[in-house]
Amino acid sequence: MNLFEIRDECRRRLNRYTIKAFSMLPDIDKPLILDAGCGTGVSSLALLEVCNGTMYAVDPDQASLEWFKEKAVSLNLRDRITIIHDTILKPALFDFNFDVILAEGLLNVIGFENGLKALVAYMKSNGFLLIHDELKNDEEKRRYFKSINLQLMQSFELHEDVWLNEYFYCLKSKLESTRNPLADAELKEVEENIRQPENLRSIYYILQHVN
Ligand SMILES: C[S@@+](CC[C@H](N)C(=O)[O-])C[C@H]1O[C@@H](n2cnc3c(N)ncnc32)[C@H](O)[C@@H]1O
Repeated sequence: MNLFEIRDECRRRLNRYTIKAFSMLPDIDKPLILDAGCGTGVSSLALLEVCNGTMYAVDPDQASLEWFKEKAVSLNLRDRITIIHDTILKPALFDFNFDVILAEGLLNVIGFENGLKALVAYMKSNGFLLIHDELKNDEEKRRYFKSINLQLMQSFELHEDVWLNEYFYCLKSKLESTRNPLADAELKEVEENIRQPENLRSIYYILQHVN
C-alpha cells in the first residue's frame, strides 16, 4: 500500500459523518457542489455516491490531486468531477455559484474568517455550506456566521474517541506495518496527535446563506 492508500483507507472511516452532515440538507436534484480543500477527494467521492450532483474540487496540493484524478478515472466519474489545482483564496476562481459547498479541515489551515469570506462568495443565495472544523472558539464562530448572513441550521461534534478509534489508531497500525521509509515522519505526527487527544475534537456546522 502506498501512503495515499493508507491515508484514504483510514479517512474513509469518517465518511459517514460527511454524509450525515449532507443528509441534514433538504433534497436538491442534481446539486452543483464545491469541495474546497478536497485533498485526495475522499469526501468528494463519498458525496457523489449519495447524490446525483456534479462536483468541482479545489486544492493547491498537486500530488493529492493526481491521486484523486486516478481514482476518479477508475471509478468512471470524470464527467461528474472537475478537479482544479489552485487556491480557494484566489479571487474570481469561479464565475458561477454553488448549491452546496463542503469545507472539511480547510478553515483551520487557511484561517477561519478569510477562508469563510472566500467560500461565501461562491454560495448561491439560499445555498448551503458544510464546514468541518476544529472545535475551538465555537461561540465566536457562531457570532461570525450571523454577521455574514449565514444561518446555522444544525451542528454536531466529533468526540476525540471518534478520531482515535476510527482514524488515528487505524493510521498508526497501517503506518507501522508498511515498509515505506517515508512513513516514519508521518507516524511521529500521528503519535503526537494520539498523545493529545483533547485537541482532536471537531465540529460540523451546517449553514444556509440567507439575505
Ligand atoms: C486537513 S486537509 C483536508 C482534506 C479533505 N478535505 C479531507 O477532509 O480529507 C486540508 C486540505 O486543505 C488544502 N488547502 C490548503 N490551503 C488551501 C487553499 N488555499 N485552498 C484550497 N485548499 C487548500 C490542503 O492542501 C489539504 O488538502
